[in-house]
This record gives sequence, C-alpha cells and structure tokens, in this order.
Amino acid sequence: MLFKKTLHIAALLVVAYLMNSFVLRSGIMKDAPPRNDAIERRVDSLLALMTLEEKIGQMTLFTSDWEMTGPTLRATYKEDIKKGRVGAIFNAHTAAYTKELQRIAVEETRLGIPLLFGYDVIHGYKTIFPIPLGESASWDLQAIEKSARIAGVEAAASGLHWTFAPMVDIARDPRWGRMAEGAGEDTYLGSAIAKARVQGFQGNGFDNADAVLACAKHFAAYGAAQAGRDYHTVDISEQVLREVYLPPFKAAVDAGAWTFMTSFNEWNGIPASAHEQLLKDILKWEWGFPGFVVTDYTSINEMVQHGYAADFKHAGELSVNAGVDMDMQGAVYYNHLEQLIREGKVKESRVDDAVRRILRMKFMLGLFENPYKFSDTEREKRLILSQEHLAAARDVARKSIVLLRNENQLLPLSKNLKNIAVIGPLADSKVDMLGNWSAAGDAKDCVTLLEGVRAKWPNAQIKYARGSDVMQMNKVDFANAYAAAKKADVIILAVGEAGWMSGEAASRSDIGLPGVQTELVKYLLTTGKPVVMVLMNGRPLVLGDLAEKVPAIVETWFAGTQGGHAIADVLAGDYNPSGKLPVTFPRNVGQIPLHYNMKNTGRPMNPNDKYTSKYLDVPNTPQWPFGFGLSYTTFEYSDLKTDRSSFDRNESVNISVMLKNTGNYDGEETAQLYVRDLIGSVTRPVRELKGFQKVFLKKGESKTVQFRLSADDLRFYNHDLRFRAEPGDFDIWVGGDSDAKLGTRVTMVK
Ligand code: NOJ
Repeated sequence: MLFKKTLHIAALLVVAYLMNSFVLRSGIMKDAPPRNDAIERRVDSLLALMTLEEKIGQMTLFTSDWEMTGPTLRATYKEDIKKGRVGAIFNAHTAAYTKELQRIAVEETRLGIPLLFGYDVIHGYKTIFPIPLGESASWDLQAIEKSARIAGVEAAASGLHWTFAPMVDIARDPRWGRMAEGAGEDTYLGSAIAKARVQGFQGNGFDNADAVLACAKHFAAYGAAQAGRDYHTVDISEQVLREVYLPPFKAAVDAGAWTFMTSFNEWNGIPASAHEQLLKDILKWEWGFPGFVVTDYTSINEMVQHGYAADFKHAGELSVNAGVDMDMQGAVYYNHLEQLIREGKVKESRVDDAVRRILRMKFMLGLFENPYKFSDTEREKRLILSQEHLAAARDVARKSIVLLRNENQLLPLSKNLKNIAVIGPLADSKVDMLGNWSAAGDAKDCVTLLEGVRAKWPNAQIKYARGSDVMQMNKVDFANAYAAAKKADVIILAVGEAGWMSGEAASRSDIGLPGVQTELVKYLLTTGKPVVMVLMNGRPLVLGDLAEKVPAIVETWFAGTQGGHAIADVLAGDYNPSGKLPVTFPRNVGQIPLHYNMKNTGRPMNPNDKYTSKYLDVPNTPQWPFGFGLSYTTFEYSDLKTDRSSFDRNESVNISVMLKNTGNYDGEETAQLYVRDLIGSVTRPVRELKGFQKVFLKKGESKTVQFRLSADDLRFYNHDLRFRAEPGDFDIWVGGDSDAKLGTRVTMVK
C-alpha cells in the first residue's frame, strides 16, 4: 500500500516536473500569447545549425558611436557582425545606415541571421511629443497610444525594430530625474498608460513594417531609488513591490510587450540583472513572458561594483542563470559565456532558451523574409515630420498641459492684446522644448513659446527678453526683461528646468526653480503687470510663495516639436486646458516622499494635537495634489449613487455621478474614482485610484458618469502575499482630483 502510494506521488512529481519544464521551455502560461508553431519550428531548426559562438552572438547587443552627423559603428563591431558575434545593434538608425549594417549581417555571415536594431524612442522619433510624464497628464489613453504609434511608424521607417520604451517605473520621488520618462506616481494610471504605450509601439502586429517591439523597463523597482538618487539602492517589501511597482510591468506583458529591460538597482540585496525571483520566477514563470530580457547598459558588469560578483565572468554566470537573455554593451557574454559553459557553470540549454527567445522575435518581425523591410528611404521621407504627425504632436501637447492657477480668470488671454512681453530663459529655447531622450528629434524643428505666441498674435507688438539663464546666477538681463515687461498688457514668463535636468543621471536635491529664476519672477511681479508663468520641467517643482503670488501658472512639461503652438493655443483659449497632474507637487523637498495614496498612521494629522503625524514647519498637504488640474470652465459633481450598498465577492457595484459644466466655456473633465478599504488584514492607503473617465461637456451641459467597481478591483497583497479582496466597508469618492470630497460607502459581505 505504502509502496503504491509512494509510486503514485513519484509519478505525480515526474508529471509536474515535465509540465514545468515544458512550460518554461515554451514560455507558455495562461497569460502568454498563442504560440506560433511554424515560427517555433524555424527557430529550432536554425538553432540546430548554430555554433556556440554564434548563439552567444545573438545574446550580444552593442551600441554604435555618435559622430557629428550621425551614428557610426566601431570597426571592431563591424568585424564582430561579420563573424556572427553580434546579434543586435542600438543607436544606429536611418534607413540608409541600418541597411548598410544589415547587409553585412545577411550577406557576409555564415548563417545570414539579420540584426535587430534598437533605440531609445521614448516620446517620438523625429516628431517629438511631450515627455512621457507630460503625456500622462493628459490621462488620455487614446492620445498616448497614438503618440507611441506615430513614434513607432517613424522609427520603423528609419530601420528600427525595437524601442527601449515604455518606461513603466512608478516614481514617487520627484528628486529622481527619470520620473520624466514614466507615467508618474500611481499604479492604476501607470498600468493603463503602460498598456496604451505598448499597444501604440507594437501597432497592428508585426506583419506590418511599421510596428516596433516594445521594451518594458526597468525591471524592477528602479523608481524606488533611495533619496531619489539615480542608480541608488532599493529596499522595499515584497508587498510594496508587488502592489505598487510590478503591476505596470504585468500590464505591459498582458498588452503583448515582447521585451523587458532589467534595471540598474538592486532589490533586497540582489542586483536586478541577476535576480532570479524577478526574472525567472515572476516574469518568465508566473507571468509566462515569452519574449526576451535585455540588461540595461553594462548592468551585468556593474554587479562587481555592487559587491555581488567577484569579476565580470562571475557576473555573467549569475546573470545568464537568473534569466537575462541579452547583454547590453557589457560584452560579458561575448567574452566569458563560452568558457562558463565549458566549465559547466552555465548549461547550454539556458543559452538555447535565450537564443530561442531572441530568434523568435526576428522571425516574427519577418526579417528572414525581408531583412530590409524596415529600412525604407521612401517611407522615411514621406512619413517623418509629416503634417499629420505634427498635428498629432500639437494635439497631444495641448492635452498634456495642466492649468495650476488662474486668479481672476487671467487666462485665457484676449486675441486682441496689443502688447505682449515674452520673457524667460526657456521662452525661445528650441532644444529645451525637446526634453530628455528625444531620439532623433532635432531642435531646429521645434516651435518655441515665443514663436507660438508670435503666430497666435500676429498683430500684437511682442517684446522678448531672456531675463536670465536657467542655471547661472547672473542678473544682467533683468533690466532688459523689466523694460520689455513695463509696457506690456501681459507678461508671459517661461521658467523651469533645462531639458537635460531630468532623465537619466539627473537627480536633484533641490527641486525649486534653478539659478535666479525665482528672483526674476519676483522682479517682474513688481511691474504690476499680470504675469502668466509657463513652467517647463520634467518633474514636480517646488515653487515656494510663487505658487500663491503669480496669478496664472501653466504646467507645460517639455512639450515637444510643436510645443510653442500648443502652449499658445492654451493661453489664447483655442484649447481649454484639461490636463491633470499624474504626480503630487510638494510644498518643499522635506515632505518627500509625498504621494496621495499614503497610509493613515495611528496618529493622523490633527492641527490641535502636537503628538500627531505632521511637521512643525509645513502642512502635510501638497502644493497641488495628484489628479489636480483646472479648466477655463468649472465642473460640479453631484448626486453620487451606487446601485447597491452591499455586494459579495462575485459582484460589482455600479457607481454614478452627475457632472455639470457650470462655467462659461466648453471643456473636458477627467472624473476620477477613489476608494479606501477601511479595515484590512494589512493597512490600506487612505485613497486609491480605481477608475477615471474623460468627459467632454458643452457649457451648461450635464452628463451622468458611470463607473463599475468589482471585488477584483479591491484586491491587495496580504501578509502572506496572497492577492485577495477582504470583506468590509469601503469609502468611495468621485471628483476632479485625489482630494475629491463627494463620497459614499459600500460594504463587501462575505
Ligand atoms: C541606459 C538607460 O537606463 C536605459 O533606459 C536606456 O534604454 C539605455 N541606457 C540605452 O540607451
């Protein structure tokens, strides 16, 4: 009997093992896209022909160098391509140049395996859209998808197959410069945007020559760098990792993202590029990710500095065994992987798995049929910076602009203005309009704010002065600015950060206006003229008392190629601003981290009780909360109703609210749904975004806005890391920002 039982258990274990290895090998899990057997057969037969050196070549990605006129490849890399020792190149683009390199791979190597060309096409290729944080302020998923689509179309015409985007890192610390590249602080919004961007880049599938592979990055928790310092250590619980930082990555996998990039940071003591739990257990096993994982730039090598690997060879062993398929620029696989296999430290089957994942993409893209299908000079000429793309860039830029303050309805400005002063170090700066990571974007194609204002008010006298530099402390131009401003009907004042001050390696400890810009603003306020402060920046800024002193404040991020026109459209009221902040603006740096979905604590802030959770010198509240943004009109929320007050875990609650445009302009509002789980087996945030909708209303018009909240939407990771909703009471609010007041309560019964 005992023998029979043991036999039975052993048989079950064997079956489980076989299933497991099949699933791992094929990358097929419940969420994985359907397997294409024809491609799998071709991958297998090619793999069978490859030498170990050629296999490792497919796992190697090198960059091109940059010269004044464009990228060039080091002579040694060209030799490597010929030998089949490099499978992918990044930073090489234009149809002509990618064709030239592809020809070497296809015609001069033993097996003729085409190269894959990658590039950081983050917010546009040549037609540059607002920085991703800016686009996220539109909360407009269609617009965001369209922006990524156009980026993909232009990049693909220039020979690119692969973009290193979207960056889906949640970022709660505005000191971290890379916040500019993502969707802000919120997991729900960030997941929706991750999906839109992946779909946009990958378009209608790879049968078309205009879809590029998306790459969800940086896996994982890069945005949780301690103190907002780039590349810094991340130390967060698995609960927070799973609940806050991972969902946008999961959304990217579900949307079909075919590649992932590891992050530079460690999580809980293990660098991400060697993190088995992240790469093998979660990404490839739990989520069934069938694509390939590339490292970030030399991040395998950096494991030596992390103190995790003794030398590069050791780092390579750790990385490949943890599930990294492609080495970006580090040449660690290139130099050491063959030896590691010979020594038995890495199994060749792991290398085969990696190569399969990479070749799968090349077959899927149709590169074996036509290796040059992406490199198309005719398409490149016709599509890049086309009128249609420029119009879309202007539209998305307008949608991204957030009106933060508008005292006495200073905005919109009259079209009949006669004298306008346009001032500020960013008012006529083309290069800063591009923002960071602007791919092949060319400053000369950008419309500055000054140019936008000139085009909008062709009959006005427009005086321009720079006033100051962005960074330097020199005030010599203050006098010119004052003179230009003195006779103006209005001062349009562009201040903020230079484009390079956000993005990678651009952390700041002081997130105020740099240089003497605050003084410039104050000086111009003394003219007594109305001031419209146009902010350009890649992160929330701390504005101090300017936030209350300047009558009109417009957040424009870095608005891209058509930025100047888009901002002028908003200032003149040709577009009624509808953007909402995707991130909290703090009052000062000392409040950081400050995000709307914090925990309540056991001593929530009470102004009359010293011993509660607060500061002596600043309120707990932000300058502007997540989700906030004004319009030239006003919106009123009323009549919040639910179709039931209690529900069980198989049901949902329908929520409706009346939204009315009560002002004098037509306009668009983003209605936001927030929830608080009052009592949990682990404590829950004071609010969580669970839905949003953009609603256009003519002046005086009302509409009922509906949301559906299901028990699934209320799940969270409990102490045992189980993802469950727990019965109990839930407060619900609907409104125009995360401070929404109109609320009700529902109960989930068992
Ligand atoms: C380093 C950055 O962290 C990453 O986001 C980027 O894609 C690579 N460099 C390639 O440029």
